[in-house]
Amino acid sequence: MRSSKATLPELLAPVAPGLERMRALLAAQIHEGSPAVRDMTDHVARFQGKQLRGALVLLTGEATGNTTDEHASVAAIVELIHLATLVHDDILDGAEVRRRVACVNQRWDNQIAVLLGDFLYARAFALSTQLSSRLCSRLLAETTRVLCVGEIEQSTRRYDFEMSPEEYEKIAGAKTASLYAAACELGARYPGGNLELGARMAEAGRALGLAFQIVDDCLDLTAREEELGKTVGTDVEDGKITLPVLLAYRAAPERTRDAIRDAYTRPDLADRRGALLEVCDVESGVLQAHARAKELVESALALVGTLPPSEARRSIERLFLFVLAREQ
Ligand code: FPP
Ligand code: MG
Repeated sequence: MRSSKATLPELLAPVAPGLERMRALLAAQIHEGSPAVRDMTDHVARFQGKQLRGALVLLTGEATGNTTDEHASVAAIVELIHLATLVHDDILDGAEVRRRVACVNQRWDNQIAVLLGDFLYARAFALSTQLSSRLCSRLLAETTRVLCVGEIEQSTRRYDFEMSPEEYEKIAGAKTASLYAAACELGARYPGGNLELGARMAEAGRALGLAFQIVDDCLDLTAREEELGKTVGTDVEDGKITLPVLLAYRAAPERTRDAIRDAYTRPDLADRRGALLEVCDVESGVLQAHARAKELVESALALVGTLPPSEARRSIERLFLFVLAREQ
């Protein structure tokens, strides 16, 4: 697997005009005239992340020869849904910082964050009603259902060290990979298009999304907040047993297992992540989890490798490697 040293904007050059249109649409949808709300939507507009999901809609469209005037809108809708899920997720995680700015639940409160997430979600579906095909709203409504089920299942498995790596992947697949899969499927087949090609690209997106979540879970354990731009250690704080912890736990002797559970559950522990890193070999869990993420990226690359060679296909391949190597 060759790594790529290019920056993200360089990788996305083949779809730069589409991305510009996507960003203009996003800005228009996020904006709200009501003075009470404008401050909040201006704040959310500063949550400009990597926009990987929107970029994938455009790139898979280009790489499969399926480009329409509506792809930029589809990309904006996917990004709006992603943004809504993050605003809600930060409430669930009690997070303080996201994309280097205060989370909505922190700057205001949980009630405002629930409503603002709903606002963004409504805007996504309002935009989708303007499209000529219902495929986008149909697929994304189903994706949102799957994603919510994943979040609920994750919540029911908190503090559950008996969870298997397969069960972890099922949850991460639902809560994160489903939106990546939808982005790639929509790119390849919106407004209707080739079902088999759509399924193949969805599979690539699903593998990439799972790799993304695994890397994200490793970073929650190992990264520093200043570098990552978001609150770290929230998984341990919230009782989420992520793949690197699960793998370290399963390899540990009984005494270490007790200490791991203690780091998660002992009352009034100020720094649970610090305690966890002290009592067990988290590094080996991280290495094994990374190896799994690499395997998933390799399978995503193999699927994309079935497309005819093009600049867009090369960008997708480099984007996949970027996800694997990311440190923020
Ligand atoms: C990030 O996970 C969160 C998600 C991938 C999905 C969150 C989805 C919801 C809360 C449901 C929202 C529903 C609607 C209708 C908008 P993470 O906490 O592991 O990642 P993080 O480190 O970026 O917070
Ligand atoms: Mg979170």
